[in-house]
Amino acid sequence: MEKIVINGGKPLKGEVFVTGAKNAALGIIPAAILAETPSEIENVPDIQDIKNYITMLRKIGATVEQDGNTLRIDPSGIHYDNIVNIEEESRKMRASYYMYGALLSKYRRVMLPLPGGCDLGARPIDMHIKAFEALGAKVEIKNGYLNANAEKLTGADIYFDITSVGATINTMLAAVMAEGTTVLENAAKEPHVVDAANFMNYMGARINGAGTDTIKIRGVKELFGCNYSVVPDQIRAGTYMMAAVATGGDILIKGIIPEHLESVTAKLIEMGSKVIEYDDAIRVIGMKPIKAVNVRTMPHPGFPTDLQQPMGVLMCLAKGTSMITENIFESRFKYVNELTKMGARVTVTNGNVAIFHGGDKLMGARINATDLRAGAAMVIAGLVAEGETIVGGLEHIDRGYEDIVGKYASLGADIKKVNFEE
Ligand code: EPZ
Repeated sequence: MEKIVINGGKPLKGEVFVTGAKNAALGIIPAAILAETPSEIENVPDIQDIKNYITMLRKIGATVEQDGNTLRIDPSGIHYDNIVNIEEESRKMRASYYMYGALLSKYRRVMLPLPGGCDLGARPIDMHIKAFEALGAKVEIKNGYLNANAEKLTGADIYFDITSVGATINTMLAAVMAEGTTVLENAAKEPHVVDAANFMNYMGARINGAGTDTIKIRGVKELFGCNYSVVPDQIRAGTYMMAAVATGGDILIKGIIPEHLESVTAKLIEMGSKVIEYDDAIRVIGMKPIKAVNVRTMPHPGFPTDLQQPMGVLMCLAKGTSMITENIFESRFKYVNELTKMGARVTVTNGNVAIFHGGDKLMGARINATDLRAGAAMVIAGLVAEGETIVGGLEHIDRGYEDIVGKYASLGADIKKVNFEE
């Protein structure tokens, strides 16, 4: 079994380029099947979740060509009956829920297993279902499957009780060719939501207001393929920013949109580091001592839940007590147990608050990625720890990080993948 082996303690130095956002690409690729003609999508990250999606599209009959970070998706060969072939992939990943919205939009029906993905506690999809129902679909959950049918889809006013990235994108997919106008209130504002809307607009959709609380979708009769480039991944960029701070390094993160990282930049400055913004890059100079801070995860433009785990590593190293309040997912502190194996002192209270006592010297250990972002945090912990750290659970990390070992090695880290006989 492959694991990552790190000899920590080297400050990261140099430049790293970040490709497109996983969570944007995972909304855009299913949207491409709505078109009559092929789309060419650039800046697609080369990660396992995307590979799974490509497999799903091929299995339902699409032709997908991949050339580096560019995908060419021709949806003309897709047949509804082929969806029985994608049940395994559908169960494996969270973003398979976008197949519900896309297939409902295209065929007025869909029956697929409920989605898998990172175990972050309960991850209901009730708001996706309510939205499909509001558009006129009959939806049933039975034996682990979602089964939705609609004679026709009709525009509706939909209010989301909670801001949800998945429910917002899924409803846009389902409503884009519905009859009439759909208005989404309390919509998610993440850059990937805006990107999915932009992509659909390039295909001929009429979606306004993405990036604000209210999104208006005027249904169109058909969509056509387009050329598009996926928005840069602010979560991976934020991860590298934190790796620079943790190791006391100096790195330039390229190919990104600094405005998408304001909440992260503000925290790192508060922690004493230097952050210099350019048009499409950010330079981070990690300064010691790291100052203690408090973080509350929030929907965009708040501090992203997907970056609280690397932030947790910084808080272990900081001088003084720091606190994270996790407001999005109920169980996203599993990684804390792994950090304690390295000498960190962290107390989790009420399930959603973690107190980092700070001033800890992390020591190399055998640790595991308990989910995707936890994995990114474990690698940062290894980069800063004294001695050898072995990180297992790479299947989680590979789902969302493109060549993480190569990227850190190019920044001067002593890091490699090793095959262990278990
Ligand atoms: C998306 O998950 C991302 N996944 C997550 O990224 C990310 O952490 C999350 O958004 C928040 O930004 C993808 O885009 C594929 P939500 P999603 O719906 O859509 C509750 C990563 O590591 N909720 O915005 O599943 C939900 O339980 C992953 O890249 C309902 O109650 O998240 C949560 O408390 C992990 N009912 C909150 O809303 C619903 O029907 C926000 O979740 C839907 C969500």
